[in-house]
Amino acid sequence: MNKENLHIKVSLTSNPYEIVIGGNSLEDIGDELLNIGFREGLKVLVVSNKEVSEHYGDCIIQSLIKSKYNPKLLILKAGEDQKNQSSIDLIHDAAYEARLERGSLMIALGGGVIGDITGFAAATWLRGIHVVQIPTTLLAMVDASIGGKTGINHSKGKNLIGAFHQPKLVLIDPKTLFTLPSREFKAGMAEIIKYGVISDIELFELLERQNNISDLSKIKEKLLIEIIRRSAKSKAEIVVKDEKESGVRAFLNYGHTFGHVIENLCGYGKWLHGEAVAMGMVAVGQLAVQRGLWKEIDSKRQQQLIEKAGLPTKWPGLEIERVLSSLKGDKKVKNGKVTFVMPLKIGDVKLFNNISNKEIHECLEKLR
Ligand code: NAD
Ligand code: GLY
Repeated sequence: MNKENLHIKVSLTSNPYEIVIGGNSLEDIGDELLNIGFREGLKVLVVSNKEVSEHYGDCIIQSLIKSKYNPKLLILKAGEDQKNQSSIDLIHDAAYEARLERGSLMIALGGGVIGDITGFAAATWLRGIHVVQIPTTLLAMVDASIGGKTGINHSKGKNLIGAFHQPKLVLIDPKTLFTLPSREFKAGMAEIIKYGVISDIELFELLERQNNISDLSKIKEKLLIEIIRRSAKSKAEIVVKDEKESGVRAFLNYGHTFGHVIENLCGYGKWLHGEAVAMGMVAVGQLAVQRGLWKEIDSKRQQQLIEKAGLPTKWPGLEIERVLSSLKGDKKVKNGKVTFVMPLKIGDVKLFNNISNKEIHECLEKLR
């Protein structure tokens, strides 16, 4: 991997920070923290899970010690079902043991689950201490680690408990992807395709031109860094325009409205989030074509790209009445109306909250 790190600014007025992307950047974490003003001697709680820390925990701790920080490592269990209050308690217990103070730091080393839990634990410990995100899945690199959404699940639904808490730094080392299971890598590719459709036609076309985007071992380093950079930049720009999601940040939910229905109705664990989003993008693409908003040919291009990424495109056989009822429970429902992000062309989307049940019915019938 190339040693030159790329820097993307997340220029939020009150909490600006940088996303640093580069091979070997894990080894640089100590220096990067010094660069952004964290003093020597600082107490740092690194939160991770076994699958990730067995590869990268040592390297992070050594780099922190080399820069004269005072780190501790806490290992949680992996999995979406760990996104709960018990994990927050474990982190807070460790924060207490380590005597973390207001100026202290937590580092999330892992995928979106570790990122969301650690971010929320940091947001709530002593009414908010610093957090740095070191994402190790493709999905977390291009989405979860950026933008300050943190939280845990409630027994009644996903991500219902949370806070906005921006990190002080996001450090992305693409070489960590080489230990990631291939299915997880492909799931992350769904979010990258999403950025292509919502805001970056050049990214979409760059992916279209590749022979292979599903097998990491066949993707050149330069291309991998470029697609992560473009996606992270898209996310950063959207977050800067609308930090608390009162407008355009909702574009990031493209494919997610139907995706969440699939996750809800098929049960978490059957499909990975990115896989559900992939099927969700195909479905909402069909809805947009049906409404005359999107060209059939662009919908086909999207479907082909999703297939090329090794992701599912076929709508699972779900009973339509159950789908309609699940849509009503979506977190993004406002005044009883479900909001859909619909494509107008590749690289441009718009929010709609006037989609009738009849339209959804017709769309799902077609997809069956
Ligand atoms: P994940 O965090 O569960 O990670 C997937 C699996 O890969 C885990 O078993 C993990 O241990 C393993 N893993 C991670 N990195 C690895 C590596 N480099 N090598 C080997 N194994 C590795 O899944 P995810 O897809 O990263 O995150 C999903 C979560 O992110 C969901 O809870 C979702 O709600 C959340 N999310 C949050 C945001 C946000 O804005 N905060 C955005 C999107 C998703
Ligand atoms: N992943 C959606 C968001 O950050 O808003």
